[in-house]
Amino acid sequence: MKRMLSGVKPTGRLTLGNYIGAIRQFIQYQDEYEMFIFIANMHAITIPCDPKQLRQNSKDMIALYLALGLDPEKTTLFLQSDLPQHTELGWIMTCHSYMGELQRMTQYKDKTAKGEAGITAGLFTYPALMAADILMYDADYVPVGVDQKQHVELARDLAERFNHRYGDTFVVPEPIVQKVGAKIMSLQNPTKKMSKSEDNPKATIDLLDEPNVARKKIMSAVTDSLGVIRYDVENQPGIANLLTILSALNNEAIEGIVKRYEGKGYGELKKEVGQTVFDFLSDLQEKYRAIIASSIMDDALREGSEKAGKIAYKKVAKVKRKLGLSVVK
Ligand code: TYM
Repeated sequence: MKRMLSGVKPTGRLTLGNYIGAIRQFIQYQDEYEMFIFIANMHAITIPCDPKQLRQNSKDMIALYLALGLDPEKTTLFLQSDLPQHTELGWIMTCHSYMGELQRMTQYKDKTAKGEAGITAGLFTYPALMAADILMYDADYVPVGVDQKQHVELARDLAERFNHRYGDTFVVPEPIVQKVGAKIMSLQNPTKKMSKSEDNPKATIDLLDEPNVARKKIMSAVTDSLGVIRYDVENQPGIANLLTILSALNNEAIEGIVKRYEGKGYGELKKEVGQTVFDFLSDLQEKYRAIIASSIMDDALREGSEKAGKIAYKKVAKVKRKLGLSVVK
């Protein structure tokens, strides 16, 4: 069975973008692949984080994963910080990454271009840690949204570089990016990605938003003045975004939705998207509350980190041998 791995960082609450762009795939693929999913909390601290909030976000994320349908019988679920091998291999990957490579990573480039203050060294080197996360488990595939593809490509380069220098050690992973929903946009500025770290709450749908509030956010989503429902990302990004959300949540092809809306107005489309989001969140949050009140999360994490930990331990031992870091056989 081929292996698949992915993670989400708990810097904020999970958004509809995270679900449609990434988590939906984790659930879809867990029957076909040996699946490893983790909470990337060591990545979260690359920006200032309130400890209480970080803990809460991490717990919510695990509960939401399970409520969304990740099955701990099929998926190995764990917290990155529980396995010190990630940072160990992360350092080794940092030492095999070039400054130029890391400077080319768009997330870092965007932040420096905006002149943001307080960019940490961790934010600069985090793609090397992400490569370690992936290569540790010999993942064949990494399902991500489009914004993370470049990082998976760096992991490929690092795997090849390492294998070339020290002999076959890592599987070279492949990113998997879906055709529809790889980039859900902000509801208030549909040319920008919907993001956990967004300041304007109207722009983002949190999976834990009160369903009625989420419906209102959809009703006030920014569109355009063309008045025709078409899937045209360039000229009608707001409408294209709403169509994408509806298509993903209802599993209906975008062309079919566009056909249904021939001659109809934006108000009607927003109403359907709003209701769909309302139903999706109501159902999800009911499951989430039941999970929070049970011990499923603790059991899943304990078993998950035990299984992942065994693989990580062996992998790092092998890498250390290859590098000449271990002296005793
Ligand atoms: P993060 O936490 O920013 O995002 C988690 C996943 O959600 C996707 N995503 C989106 N997809 C569609 N539309 C959006 N608006 C949207 N926003 C986010 C992201 O592409 C991602 O797949 N560095 C990673 C976490 C990570 C990781 C890894 C992922 C750490 N180690 C190893 C894969 C493998 C991150 O910051 O993702």
